[in-house]
Amino acid sequence: MLTTTKVKQVAGEITVPGDKSISHRAVMFSSMAKGKAHISGFLPGADCMSTIDCFRKMGVVIDHARGDQVTVDSQGMDGWLEPANILDVGNSGTTIRLMAGILAGRPFHSVLIGDESIAGRPMNRIAQPLRELGARIDGRGGGEFTPLSIRGGGLQGIEYHSPVASAQVKSAILLAGLQASGTTTIYEPHLSRDHTEAMLSSFGVKLETFAGGVSIEGGQTLQQQEEIHVPGDISSAAFLLAAAAIVPGSNLLIKNVGINPTRTGILDVLIEMGAKLEIQNEREQSGERVADLYIEHAPLRGIEISGEIIPRLIDEIPVIAVIATQAEGRTVIKDAAELKVKETNRIDVTVAELRKMGASIEPTDDGMIIEGPRPLQGAACHSHGDHRIGMAMAVAGLVAEGETTVSGAAAIDISFPGFGELLAAVVER
Ligand code: S3P
Repeated sequence: MLTTTKVKQVAGEITVPGDKSISHRAVMFSSMAKGKAHISGFLPGADCMSTIDCFRKMGVVIDHARGDQVTVDSQGMDGWLEPANILDVGNSGTTIRLMAGILAGRPFHSVLIGDESIAGRPMNRIAQPLRELGARIDGRGGGEFTPLSIRGGGLQGIEYHSPVASAQVKSAILLAGLQASGTTTIYEPHLSRDHTEAMLSSFGVKLETFAGGVSIEGGQTLQQQEEIHVPGDISSAAFLLAAAAIVPGSNLLIKNVGINPTRTGILDVLIEMGAKLEIQNEREQSGERVADLYIEHAPLRGIEISGEIIPRLIDEIPVIAVIATQAEGRTVIKDAAELKVKETNRIDVTVAELRKMGASIEPTDDGMIIEGPRPLQGAACHSHGDHRIGMAMAVAGLVAEGETTVSGAAAIDISFPGFGELLAAVVER
């Protein structure tokens, strides 16, 4: 259980844990390459630990003695063992979808399962194109749901038009395409996060990116990287930025945050809503843009959020809804039907939880409409097992009268271990 109450100010200088998307990929790609890699800034959250566990089950030696430091020692993909047991991805959509792409190219059998949330999330979005590449993939409901059984190998490149802008789909296909003969091309309706492309490039893999898609030539070998630095997660920073944005008088500096342009929709939204935000000390680290983010509270206004920006802020929408409750006027979020197939149905759950606090929020088919500003009342909220919902409600509690309790707060460890402590350290009561 996490409890928050109304605070006077949010202030300080902090860092946030490592980027979840990049941490997964650092473990995956260094396990695919041959030799030893050291990863610093790794996110020791439950999802990334599931990724480590999957590779250990295939014989990769992974040392994770200390929080954000990981060492991977691999024989390369050809040295992996056929897993003697099922690979359990826990709550992690990124692990199951990217692993499926990787395993589709391996000449052995493997089975992927996850928790209750994973069991309800769509898998044909990757299983179907991976079958087109030549992998044998089956699962419950015709391959739509876990457990997924994969017999990989013998792949042939394809051209695939993805109906969704999803980095998990794009990455699964690229990682299978890397092991296929010939070229694999994937087109997506809007550009999704491109950490796979960026990190594969730093491992020496050649990809061709163009407006609307990306191509990869099969048969390339990953060159092991001795050092991989993972920047702070902008999706975690978003909860602290939101807290500072809605609490009058706040000023907060978050150092060392990844600002890959495919992830910075939250910064664009905060600026458009009226927050005072500065991107300072921009630099490059392991092929990713990194900066310090400074934010000051200022009066906020409602805006419309739709179209190409949606994949650039998809994980931030629950906390954007919280910000919108404190903004003058109407905030409309559209084109975000993907929210329904995240860790929870984030349209329904965000609406239900914020309504408990007195917010004016309406669900729509592909998003939500929020009227502000509304004074919020503390309430008994629930994470529904969804880390981002738990954190969003805790942030809402910072401007609510009375006490807000978030039960199921253990889920927060999936992406932001130490969130409660960090929040407590920056608030002034
Ligand atoms: C992720 C991609 C996104 C995002 C998820 C992480 C990734 O999912 O929501 O938290 O690391 O590739 P989709 O690809 O399903 O949009």
